[in-house]
Amino acid sequence: STVYLNGAFIPVEEAKISPLDRGFLFGDGIYEVVPAYAGKTVGLEPHMQRMFDGLAAIGIKCTKTMDDWKALIQELIEQNGGGDLGIYIHVSRGADVKRYHAYPEGVEPTVFAMANPIKPAITDDASTAKGFSVATTQDMRWKRCQIKSTALLGNVMHFQEGYAGGNDEILLYNEDNILTEASSSNAFIVKDGVVITPILDNQILPGITRKLILDILEKDGSIPFEVRDISMEEVFNADEIWVTSSSKELAPVTTIDGKPVADGKVGKVWEAAFKLYTAHKF
Ligand code: PDD
Repeated sequence: STVYLNGAFIPVEEAKISPLDRGFLFGDGIYEVVPAYAGKTVGLEPHMQRMFDGLAAIGIKCTKTMDDWKALIQELIEQNGGGDLGIYIHVSRGADVKRYHAYPEGVEPTVFAMANPIKPAITDDASTAKGFSVATTQDMRWKRCQIKSTALLGNVMHFQEGYAGGNDEILLYNEDNILTEASSSNAFIVKDGVVITPILDNQILPGITRKLILDILEKDGSIPFEVRDISMEEVFNADEIWVTSSSKELAPVTTIDGKPVADGKVGKVWEAAFKLYTAHKF
C-alpha cells in the first residue's frame, strides 16, 4: 500500500521513522481514524477538528490546514485505489536529538497517514447483523481520555482483557460504577425505547460516530435520547447495548459478561437507528 510520510507518498516498505521520534519513545502524538466508503469519507471535518483540538491540547504545532488535510486524504484514497478504507492519521511531536521529557523547541512534527481496507458494517438486511460480545471492567486509563493520544497502552490492555475472554469489546466503568466508554468505542444503552449515552468529559473520547448518531437522532426525532450518567446496574438491565466507532460504525451488543443482553437478540431500536445512520451518515 501507499502511505504518506512527511510530505511524500511512498510504498509502506520505504517508510522509515527515527527511533528518537517522540511518538515511538513516549507515545507523544495525536491520531485519527476516518472511515471512507467507496472512496467517500464520513465525518471528515469533525474528525480533523478533533485532531486540531488534540494537537492544541498537547502543544504540537502542525501547520497543516483543514484544506491541506482534505487534499492529503483525497490523494491517499486515490493512491490506494478508493473503495472502503480506514484512513489512519498520526502526528507525533517529531524526532528530538536526545530522549528528554520536555517538549523540544524547533522540532518538526512527524506526519504519517495510511489507508487500510475495512469492511462496512452495512448489510442489505440490518436484522442479519452480528451481535457483539462484551466484557466489563473498571476503567484504569488516565484522566485525559478526551485527547486522542497515540499512547494507547491503557486502551490496549483493556481491549486485550476482553479479547482474551473471547469478547469483541470491553465496557469500562469508573470508581463510582458509572459507565465511561469501551476500550476503542463509545457506548450506548437503550431502556424503554430511550437511547442513553454518557456525557462528554475527561473520562471519554468525544467519538465522531457518537456525535453523528446523536445528530441524526435529533434531526429525525422518532427515537428519544438522553445524554447523562449511566450506572452499571442500568447497563446490566438495559434492553439494548450498542458500541460505536469509526471502524465498527453502530454495533449491537448481545452478550455482556457471558450473559445475554435482554433476550440476547439484536434490538429493534438498534435496527431503526442503524437504518437512519446508514441513510444519513454522509
Ligand atoms: N477508536 N473511544 C475510544 C477510546 C476510541 O479509541 C474510539 C475510536 C472511540 C470512537 O470514536 P470515533 O467514533 O471517533 O471513531 C471511542 C479508533 C477507531 C481506533 O483507535 O482505532
